[in-house]
Amino acid sequence: MINNLAERAVTHYSGIRTFTEELVQPLEIEDFIVQSTSDVSPPKWHMAHTTWFFERFVLKPFKESYQEFHPHFDYLFNSYYETIGTFHPRYKRGVLARPTIEEVYTYRKHVDENIVELLENLDDSLLEEVKDLLEIGLHHEQQHQELLLTDIKYNFFQNPLKPLYTQLKETAKEQTLMIFKEFQGGLVEIGYQGGEFSFDNEHPRHKVWLEPYKLASRLVTNGEYLAFMKDGGYEKPQYWLSDGWAAVKNYGWTSPLYWKEDEQEWTQFTLSGEKPLNLEEPVCHVSFYEADAYARWAGKRLPTEAEWEYAAEGVAIEGNFVETQHFHPLSADLEAKGLLCKMYGDVWEWTSSAYGPYPGSKPMEGALGEYNAKFMCNQMVLRGGSCATPSSHIRATYRNFFQPEKRWQFSGIRLAED
Ligand code: AVJ
Ligand code: FE
Repeated sequence: MINNLAERAVTHYSGIRTFTEELVQPLEIEDFIVQSTSDVSPPKWHMAHTTWFFERFVLKPFKESYQEFHPHFDYLFNSYYETIGTFHPRYKRGVLARPTIEEVYTYRKHVDENIVELLENLDDSLLEEVKDLLEIGLHHEQQHQELLLTDIKYNFFQNPLKPLYTQLKETAKEQTLMIFKEFQGGLVEIGYQGGEFSFDNEHPRHKVWLEPYKLASRLVTNGEYLAFMKDGGYEKPQYWLSDGWAAVKNYGWTSPLYWKEDEQEWTQFTLSGEKPLNLEEPVCHVSFYEADAYARWAGKRLPTEAEWEYAAEGVAIEGNFVETQHFHPLSADLEAKGLLCKMYGDVWEWTSSAYGPYPGSKPMEGALGEYNAKFMCNQMVLRGGSCATPSSHIRATYRNFFQPEKRWQFSGIRLAED
């Protein structure tokens, strides 16, 4: 490989790997083991699993002299790749006092050194393949950077001491008017096309028919969501899908996750501790069911993923991503008045689209085919990234997905109408 290319690949790799370690700097050693529910993983597990991904999919197949770091790590840090072998159950990730976090850092270093060595000595015939796998590994690591933050938040929330991850920067309380931008629709195309990285689930680019629609210029705010609650939103079944109403009853939902009412005053738990609810901020930590019920109450609906993507094409990928270090959605920015505001960053936007394969789509080959494709059932698509997403991870065609009852991600609401 030309040295220059190797050098650039190493810089790119080290930058993203280092950022993971920066994100866990505020943690104390005890924080690394906690798994307060099976949806979340302990920080230590995220740090080892992302490392295992490079070991298993890049080093073992492509570096001849590679010495496996630990014989049990395939079992411990394989997340869900059934075709590779058995793995430690997800719900038991939090019982692992060992390996210590010290050992996990050594594991990271071992794999990082080997990746650098591989890149520096790679011959041209393998360059493309290794570069592609490395790129997947880095986007995978970025997904886990977001999960690290959402999981730390959930773990901290379970602790009556309500620990702080960071001190929140002062934020504004601004709210712009919500207007509905009209789109003619027609025969449009969605899906990835281009020379940069994209996941298999964004392919192939294909045609979809869109009836004329309107998309809200901004996200739904806490204040607006509170009005839904005060109007009996959580008590009136007419706003809810059948499964949504069952979830309300089953989980006892009366507000978004992390909200608490104290003598008529609402607070919201954030990565900077418990804060008075800022009514102008985008509502966050709602499930698909709540987003859908809110939209019905408001006389609107959620956009489809195709409507969202078509509208997002040409919108600059700027916003409140993880790099701003707010780790929290912010109220509307006044400069973006009238345009489509906050399409990217702040909160993931629930769509009304079920997560499924695009026509003609092909999963990645081999075990990596399990990465996205096998989850295409009973999950809904979210778009646009959040305040916990690295900005270089997102694009207009990016499809995130979660089960409709999940609330621990930074997920919010943008309305649409016919
Ligand atoms: C796309 C966020 C749903 O959390 O399982 C991490 C990301 N994929 N490792 C998930 C992912 C493989 C994925 N989500
Ligand atoms: Fe993973």
